[in-house]
Amino acid sequence: MQIQTPATGTTIATTGTPALRTTSPTGAARTHREAPPAHTVIEPSVLYFGTPVALLSTENEDGTFNLAPVSSAWALGHTVVLGLGAEGHTGHNLRTRPGLVINLPGPGLWQAVERLAPLTGCERVPEAKREMFRFEADKFRAAGLTPVDSGTVRPPRVAECPLQLEARTVRIRPDDGGDFLIVEARVLRVHADPGIVVPGTDHVDPGAWSPLLYNFRHYFGLGPELGRSFRSRTPAPARNPQDGPGTGRTGPAPA
Ligand SMILES: Cc1cc2nc3c(=O)[nH]c(=O)nc-3n(C[C@H](O)[C@H](O)[C@H](O)COP(=O)(O)O)c2cc1C
Repeated sequence: MQIQTPATGTTIATTGTPALRTTSPTGAARTHREAPPAHTVIEPSVLYFGTPVALLSTENEDGTFNLAPVSSAWALGHTVVLGLGAEGHTGHNLRTRPGLVINLPGPGLWQAVERLAPLTGCERVPEAKREMFRFEADKFRAAGLTPVDSGTVRPPRVAECPLQLEARTVRIRPDDGGDFLIVEARVLRVHADPGIVVPGTDHVDPGAWSPLLYNFRHYFGLGPELGRSFRSRTPAPARNPQDGPGTGRTGPAPA
């Protein structure tokens, strides 16, 4: 058997790797091969393996609004699960004022996101953040982003973000270590830039929309499409006979 090493793309032969006999948790004997020498055990300081950036707008005590970048966000149906630092101002706001907007910037907004990066809405900056962060009362202005009214919640949307999810916090609990909050937010309304919507449908066009990705503290956009899931319901664009196979955007739409 041959495998490709992920880092270098080099092909290495694994034939001859000794087979090991071990016992599974149920006690059944099983055979597997010793891991080939393709990976190194490392201890990275962060595990930000490339997730979309979201800008969370929340309401402050005095009725003004906070805006904070996060990348620990993922969707479970119409609930978005967020991971927030327990000492951050966003978590503080959500505990008593549950409305928020999950604004999704495209790659072109990375510098605006980075302008927000050293800021916190905590007037008294937590001890652990003092060296690298400073308080900012008006983060929309600091980032050069435009607040626009939401329909179902008080915090505003970020006009420059092509996707904006109005949501309500339905559950907050601490993580196991107590450093983070796990927030579940129910999405109430989705706003999309018409330029990323398949005309006449409610589908976001994956070829037109690209999230901004946070990849081990560096910003990236998406590369070209590789293919589509069998679950995709996005209508396929008209086939161009000059397109080669494998673009994933030339096949018929699934039923
Ligand atoms: C791209 C990016 C992604 C981030 N992801 C998260 C995250 O997922 N969760 C989190 O709590 N902080 C995250 N941070 C750090 C917060 O933005 C930072 O702690 C900020 O001060 C929070 O603002 P707040 O205190 O006003 O809520 C991220 C920062 C950047 C720039």
